[in-house]
Amino acid sequence: TYNGSLPGPLIRATVGNRVIVHFVNELDEPTTIHWHGVRVPIEMDGVPGISQPEVKKGESFTYDFIVRDASLYWYHPHVMSAAQVGYGLYGGLLVEDPADGVGVADTTTLVLSDIGFDKNGTLEDSESGGSAGMVFGREGAYVLVNGRTRPTLRARAGAPQRWRIVNMAKSRFFYLDLEGQEFVVIGQDGGFQASPTKADILLVTPGERYDVIVRPTGAPGSTLVLRAMLYNRGYGSIEYRSVEEIMTVALTNDPVVTKVDLPAISREITPPAFAGATPVPMVFTLPPQEAGYSEFRINGVPYWKAKPFRAELGETQFWTVTNDTDWDHPFHLHGYFFMVVDEKGAPLQPMVWKDTVNIPMKATAHILVTFDERPGTWMIHCHILDHAE
Ligand code: C2O
Ligand code: CU
Repeated sequence: TYNGSLPGPLIRATVGNRVIVHFVNELDEPTTIHWHGVRVPIEMDGVPGISQPEVKKGESFTYDFIVRDASLYWYHPHVMSAAQVGYGLYGGLLVEDPADGVGVADTTTLVLSDIGFDKNGTLEDSESGGSAGMVFGREGAYVLVNGRTRPTLRARAGAPQRWRIVNMAKSRFFYLDLEGQEFVVIGQDGGFQASPTKADILLVTPGERYDVIVRPTGAPGSTLVLRAMLYNRGYGSIEYRSVEEIMTVALTNDPVVTKVDLPAISREITPPAFAGATPVPMVFTLPPQEAGYSEFRINGVPYWKAKPFRAELGETQFWTVTNDTDWDHPFHLHGYFFMVVDEKGAPLQPMVWKDTVNIPMKATAHILVTFDERPGTWMIHCHILDHAE
């Protein structure tokens, strides 16, 4: 854990603040902290061999950076990440803009995760499940919301609630359903959308964040259940699985709130220019098992042979990311936000900045990204952490 709590402490900052974290490693193994989604300088990005040395047992490191964009971010190690994150090293970083204008008093952060134990109650061996577990991406059997199994959130019927949702699970996808009630999505990874969208069910893949407004509706005194529905991210994700009840929403006995004026949320977003963008193809494959283990590849190259994709400072690139495997992969880029576009480079609507996007099995995503500042070597990886490993 970070500071003895699971999840780690929610770090709160105002946009423009300088954040200084005095990190001490008291584990018996090396680790680092990566600030997922934050536009940090490369020295603060936490990837051994690329951006910072491992912080060894007993060592410390001072993370120091300015938070320039209001949104919900999170932090986690970048060493043995399937194990270290799976065992509980993760926490939120909430960067707020005092002028954000949403005006919903009831706001909460929901950290979604899971954890696995074996029969004698100790943390599940990170090697459990063997190579099939690796290929699937191991999920812990206990689903957690802010570190608890099935907590209760008290709400006044009809009153809007703002939920800042983040999926910190090592592999699990959360396909959220509040008994069919509507989620109004106002933001994602990199802050507000250009305009809100409505959803009856909300898919939050590992690493992603969603900023939503819900108005839990029902008779005062009754309860609603937030469920994680079955989502097919590849063989094994709907077979032998069941819907999980993850949180209870208990409506108070206060009178129902009927009149609500939500502010019209909109944001001016300028997409990266498609004209002149350098095309970069990326294809994910999982060739048939050799020597007893499976190995994901990007453009035919396994990670241990991979050379970095290259970009010039100031360059915009158009990445065509094809997932040729039978599994979904939530694709994450460090250090920069990108925009998901169609095959002709037109932004998907409404526009929004992403740092993690799910690429369904046998599907292709197109993204535009501008490397306008902060030279360095930045990681791209799947956020199913067994795949990343
Ligand atoms: Cu959550 Cu390499 O990232
Ligand atoms: Cu993956």
